[in-house]
Amino acid sequence: MGLFDGKVVIVTGAGRGIGREEALMFARGGASVIVNDLGGARTGEGSDVGPAQQVVEEIMAEGGKAQANTDDIATWVGGEQIVAQAVETFGGLDILINNAGILRDKMSFNMTEEEWDSVIAVHLKGHFAPARFAAAYWRQKSKDSGESVNAKIVNTSSESGLYGNAGQANYAAAKAGIASMTIVLARELERFGVRVNAIAPVALTRLTEDLMGGVVDDTAAKASLDPANVAAAVGWLASDLSDGVNGQVVKIGGGVCQIVEGWRPVSELKSDVPFTIESIAAGRETLFKASDPGIPPFLLQIER
Ligand SMILES: NC(=O)c1ccc[n+]([C@@H]2O[C@H](COP(=O)([O-])OP(=O)(O)OC[C@H]3O[C@@H](n4cnc5c(N)ncnc54)[C@H](O)[C@@H]3O)[C@@H](O)[C@H]2O)c1
Repeated sequence: MGLFDGKVVIVTGAGRGIGREEALMFARGGASVIVNDLGGARTGEGSDVGPAQQVVEEIMAEGGKAQANTDDIATWVGGEQIVAQAVETFGGLDILINNAGILRDKMSFNMTEEEWDSVIAVHLKGHFAPARFAAAYWRQKSKDSGESVNAKIVNTSSESGLYGNAGQANYAAAKAGIASMTIVLARELERFGVRVNAIAPVALTRLTEDLMGGVVDDTAAKASLDPANVAAAVGWLASDLSDGVNGQVVKIGGGVCQIVEGWRPVSELKSDVPFTIESIAAGRETLFKASDPGIPPFLLQIER
């Protein structure tokens, strides 16, 4: 018995890198997998059925079940079609893994409108569009059966979005949005039996090879950055082994698995009368506990 026997899974951006490992992991666990990938460049240009088809062939060569999908998940129609393909081909949908992504790094003062729009579209809209149609499918299924659907979504955020990496205003804004959207979806879909969590992965792929490839040279460090580590966290979140875990962000990679918490109050001033600029300024030591506030630390140190 595999952990995912009889389950139907969609993995977006599964033609390469982390998504490919996730698709292989689900198929090896007994799931039927829709392998989505537009097959474009690292920066998002172009399309090619090759990467998705190649992963499907790898899965089938191992005796697994998979079908390729090349829809652009950054469109409503792409999100609708990918869910429809899972239902028509494999008879339903149990797990959605939102993973597809691109990078167009630039310092804010040099960023073009196209660089901003394309990254926000692929990540933020590209997570929401499949989730929106999967949610509608599960809501209807739950209404029809009167039962909980026991489904899962795992979204892909990033330390860049959680801590704010210079040179990635577009990407970090989208990834922070994905972390927040994960909590919203978890709240909305819990009533139908859908759990929604996110990961913040760290892995050596074509997205990061120029950032990390040069600084990671020993074999143990490379193994800790293998995308298979990330697939393990996704597999846990997408399985019943993580029952009760909802609306969380799990950082995984580099030999570390952490729960990362979002924005929350860390200090406060209280006032019975309206605040003024002066009264807030007078409370600065209380707000910052007498330490130098500075910019919050960026926890992942990568030379850029
Ligand atoms: N590698 C890391 O360390 C790291 C760190 C933080 C976050 N992430 C995130 O993990 C995810 C996977 O990244 P990766 O490192 O495996 O990169 P990757 O480039 O190897 O794989 C991403 C895949 O997404 C596909 N894709 C891009 N736009 C698409 C679209 N519109 N529709 C369908 N498919 C599309 C690409 O063709 C590509 O095959 C991304 O969301 C990325 O932002 C990765």
